[in-house]
Amino acid sequence: MQPADLPELKDYSPASLDSYFGGILALFEKEAAAAGTPDELEQLRIRWIGRKQGLLVGISEDVKKAPADQRREVGKRFNALKSAIEPRCDPEQAQARTPSAAESAAESIDITLPGTRRALGAEHPLIRTMNEIVTVFAAMGYSVGLGPEVETDYYNFESLNFPPGHPARDTQDTLVIAQQERKPLRDRLLMRTHTSPVQIHTMEQQPPPLRIVIPGKVHRNDAADATHSPIFHQVEGLCVDTNITFSDLKGTLDHAMKAFFGSSVKTRFFPSFFPFTEPSADVQISCIFCGGRGCRKCKQSGWIELLGCGMVDPAVFGLVARQQPAYDPKKISGFAFGMGVERIAMMKYGIGDISQLYSGDMRFLEQFR
Ligand code: DAH
Repeated sequence: MQPADLPELKDYSPASLDSYFGGILALFEKEAAAAGTPDELEQLRIRWIGRKQGLLVGISEDVKKAPADQRREVGKRFNALKSAIEPRCDPEQAQARTPSAAESAAESIDITLPGTRRALGAEHPLIRTMNEIVTVFAAMGYSVGLGPEVETDYYNFESLNFPPGHPARDTQDTLVIAQQERKPLRDRLLMRTHTSPVQIHTMEQQPPPLRIVIPGKVHRNDAADATHSPIFHQVEGLCVDTNITFSDLKGTLDHAMKAFFGSSVKTRFFPSFFPFTEPSADVQISCIFCGGRGCRKCKQSGWIELLGCGMVDPAVFGLVARQQPAYDPKKISGFAFGMGVERIAMMKYGIGDISQLYSGDMRFLEQFR
């Protein structure tokens, strides 16, 4: 719009001044009513009271041209116009004065109609499973810890007794962070392949006795299929004190499995290998589907493998003791365990394909409400 929209000031008679200033105000009112958004309000401000080209600048020129005996009268009207316009161009005051579009609409809303329904969310089955596992251990006096997903080679491997080049590193298809080659191996960053490095962080930060569970996300360079995902979850556990024995480990995990799957579940321990535990074991539970008689789910064996565990290797304590001397492998002992959350959740809820857990599909998630 050009200043040409403005009424013309023919002479300085009171009637002419009235129609001139009245006309300007009416024009402003019309434009102000149409300026709803902050952008439009800003345009309005620039057009009317912009310092260089605002319409008020032009109008003030007219005022200055008034004959001396009329100047007072004209000035008064100009000031009244100005104080009517200015606050309406200020976003804060404009909002306070003019009802927003939403406010005017609110007046026409029928409050007897039902409101907008906001669907209640549900705890994701993975988070729920993780919380349930953590709760079982919390009841036995374990606290809960967390650690970083981006780790150094030292914490993910070396401190856990996987020396450089150790073949056990190959079982963990590691996703490494780019451009780390200039750093010494121990400082190179990678996505943690398991939650076990948090055992080390925790011990470095606090002396024994220690009982802690660590739920978290881990990453491996695995191709996705019905039972694998490159990102998955684990719950790690660690207990360190004087005189902790393998029977403490067995009793703790047997109790935890019964608390989690039901008191009729049995456990059994098989020799296994992990670099950071000695001895190491895999834990199996009696098949929760057939009660141990043998079915398709347990491949007719009656048992399902669920987690890894073992007595903390003294070599691991030895490394930690450099920072926390209380982890003297001659004085303390401990056990550790780690389990995959997806597998447990899939078993517990009868989920056949791991990718459903990450699909975000409401039809799937709604079943867990
Ligand atoms: N970190 C192992 C893995 O991801 C799992 C594990 C096994 C953790 C034995 C433990 C343990 O704490 O004692 O394969």
